[in-house]
Amino acid sequence: MKFDLKITDTTSKARAGTITTDHGEIETPIFMPVGTVASVKGVHQQELKKDINADIILGNTYHLYLRPTTKILEKAGGLHKFMKWDRPILTDSGGYQVYSLSGNNKINEKGVKFKSHIDGSMHFFTPESSMDIQRSIGADIIMAFDECTPYPCEYNYAKNSMHMTHRWLKRCINHLEKTPEIYDFKQAFFPIVQGSTYKDLRKQSAEFIASMGAEGNAIGGLSVGEPAEELYEMTDIVCSVLPEDKPRYLMGVGTPINILENIALGVDMFDCVMPTRNARNGMLFTAHGSINIKNKKWEDDFSPIDEMNITFVDTEYSKAYLRHLFVAKEYLAKQIATIHNLGFYMWLVREARKHILAGDFTIWKNMMVKQMDKRL
Ligand code: GUN
Repeated sequence: MKFDLKITDTTSKARAGTITTDHGEIETPIFMPVGTVASVKGVHQQELKKDINADIILGNTYHLYLRPTTKILEKAGGLHKFMKWDRPILTDSGGYQVYSLSGNNKINEKGVKFKSHIDGSMHFFTPESSMDIQRSIGADIIMAFDECTPYPCEYNYAKNSMHMTHRWLKRCINHLEKTPEIYDFKQAFFPIVQGSTYKDLRKQSAEFIASMGAEGNAIGGLSVGEPAEELYEMTDIVCSVLPEDKPRYLMGVGTPINILENIALGVDMFDCVMPTRNARNGMLFTAHGSINIKNKKWEDDFSPIDEMNITFVDTEYSKAYLRHLFVAKEYLAKQIATIHNLGFYMWLVREARKHILAGDFTIWKNMMVKQMDKRL
């Protein structure tokens, strides 16, 4: 993997760059649609490529390990071949889903014991097994096995957890050195900064992570319920420590406004279930604010879903039609809304890049933040 930093904005810390992987290039800043179980819910791969134009998607170690299992993925020749997606993929390590999805998880120095959310069976993840599973899945970018602390989190817990995440990181790196890729392309490895909402811990964690000299670095443990101001404060501290010449990935963030504000602080990569999950609940993001399309006020509004026509669904269908599909509980409702929201998120990061390159990012960002902070 290679990262070329093209430009850093002069009015903010925003950056525009290009990541090159064996499955193609990713122009940053980028948003990565979440494809948890080898599927971005509600859209097929052709739409993701042609209509939404996603450069890279995300998969989850936790889910893919439970279903279809690494045995099947290896037999298929890896996740790219299995799901017929030939662009880059990033996998999260399981070090988040085990806490958020499985009840009864028990963490110790060795790893995490957890209960499957599917059938209640017990499993154990370690930093080593997470690396093995991510080798079998075969994503282009794989993530360190970490503990994502909850919010709020007591200082001593956050500190001890951060140190454990650092020790786990060394185990991940040692293990990867002993276990090369199993497919014919390279996998880049990103460590994850933790430290909850404590400035000193964040700085310490970022310094430790930076000293590993990885190909890219991630910021975890945020967007877990803390106020936006705290999120921005932590990102700012961490970005000021992480190396400039490596991509920075803020995990699980966020709203369109969160994304623009964090781009301004120097983040290059984002993922979040928000555009897909909210779409399935009838919430649409637009450049002028968000819409609850199930609202009665759209019943006889035959105007296009979104005049901006970012994806074909935007002007092909009316608000009244999409509202009707939601009320009638048609599958198509969720599909149309998902294409719209993902198209909008991709447009947002591409516009951000254009404005970084043009030198007017901050003016544009401030205008967009104001505009998007509305309910239509
Ligand atoms: N996704 C969102 N936050 C996190 C985090 O802190 N760790 C991991 N592994 N994934 C995440």
